Amino acid sequence: MDNNGNANANSPSPLERAGERCILITGGAGFIGSHVVRLFVNKYPDYTIVNLDKLTYAGNLENLRDIEHKTNYKFIKGDIVDSDFIHQLFDTYKFSAVIHLAAESHVDRSIASPMEFVTTNIIGTVNLLNAARQLWKPALDTVDSSANLFYHISTDEVYGTLGEHGLFTEKTSYDPHSPYSASKASSDHMVRSYADTYGLPAVITNCSNNYGPFHFPEKLIPLALNNIKNNKSIPVYGKGENIRDWLFVEDHAKAIDLVFHKGKAGQTYNIGGHNEWKNIDLIKLLCSIMDKKLNRTPGTSAKLITFVTDRAGHDLRYAIDASKIKKELGWVPSVRFEEGLEKTVDWYLANESWLNNVTSGNYKQYYEKQYAQR
Ligand code: NAD
Ligand code: DAU
Repeated sequence: MDNNGNANANSPSPLERAGERCILITGGAGFIGSHVVRLFVNKYPDYTIVNLDKLTYAGNLENLRDIEHKTNYKFIKGDIVDSDFIHQLFDTYKFSAVIHLAAESHVDRSIASPMEFVTTNIIGTVNLLNAARQLWKPALDTVDSSANLFYHISTDEVYGTLGEHGLFTEKTSYDPHSPYSASKASSDHMVRSYADTYGLPAVITNCSNNYGPFHFPEKLIPLALNNIKNNKSIPVYGKGENIRDWLFVEDHAKAIDLVFHKGKAGQTYNIGGHNEWKNIDLIKLLCSIMDKKLNRTPGTSAKLITFVTDRAGHDLRYAIDASKIKKELGWVPSVRFEEGLEKTVDWYLANESWLNNVTSGNYKQYYEKQYAQR
């Protein structure tokens, strides 16, 4: 690779390098996945990073334009639910590790259409577990399987809801309420069952709400920013009293890097921002930041706030106790909320074409031109 990071004609292709440390990242074209792929591709030039993504409505290769030319990066369009395809892929690339983020991720969609969550989040995960188990079987039969790791990215929503007090720890019992969180809980259980039954080296992290660049504008923060910008109403579910614990997405990606390299197989780590916000307070804050950025009279954007029917089964409060990952691996969030929100707002205002492409569906034309359907 030259100094600008461009491909060198003599450098080996990802396939030639696949026998070295070849890591499968699933869902890498999504919000969090794209930050994880970028971090790994840039930080670990000796790894080959294969990004497998079905490019659903949430997958967008525009999120990865800055690294798509790197010689240690390869994108593959495919579905984790297709077990023959997944087995072939593992056979070809001989992945030494998997970081699994691919999922249907939006709670409201899971309420409208639960079956996609069952197929992708549960069956898709089990397909990956089976393929990893088959490929790594010789190593699993010996004592040394430390070269392999199945890293499952999960959510704090598996723990259900908190009342006014307390925090989710790794020991909190699972109590999911939405089809989304039930499907993630189920996939977590399947990962643990493969670790306990077959000795598959696996680790799980359960993280709180992420925010930042490339966040699909169906989720609260980017939806609110987009609507404020376009003078559209901001829908607040119920009374806006629900509480979420927000973490800047790059801090999550750094935690994933740390757990991947230093975490202990068989363990679970909670990741969170120690940053609880009532939805209505967060939206009011976003309104005041946007008024300033858009030179509007203070109070203009807040007029767009509209209380709407509550989400069915809406969990009241999530908040993470992240003391285990701090104590054992030394991770703490590095981005203060004010700083992270400012970066996020600036990013959305500066990347109008990304937002317009996503909201109009045009980004699909970008990838459809580049990658034929499998
Ligand atoms: P996202 O919806 O932005 O991205 C999901 C990605 O998975 C998309 O690129 C999509 O195309 C891909 N995908 C979906 N179905 C697929 C399939 N069948 N085969 C291959 N690829 C498929 O989601 P996100 O917010 O980036 O979340 C990523 C992971 O992190 C998920 O597992 C989610 O449960 C978990 N998580 C998210 C948050 C959060 O706040 N967003 C917090 C904690 C955990
Ligand atoms: O906690 C981690 C989870 O955070 C992840 O596992 C999920 O993948 C991710 O989508 C997110 O789930 P939430 O349901 O918490 O995120 P969402 O942005 O959809 O909603 C945040 C809060 O805002 C929630 O209390 C519902 C509320 N809300 C949401 C939307 C989209 C509104 O009041 N209005 C809205 O329009």
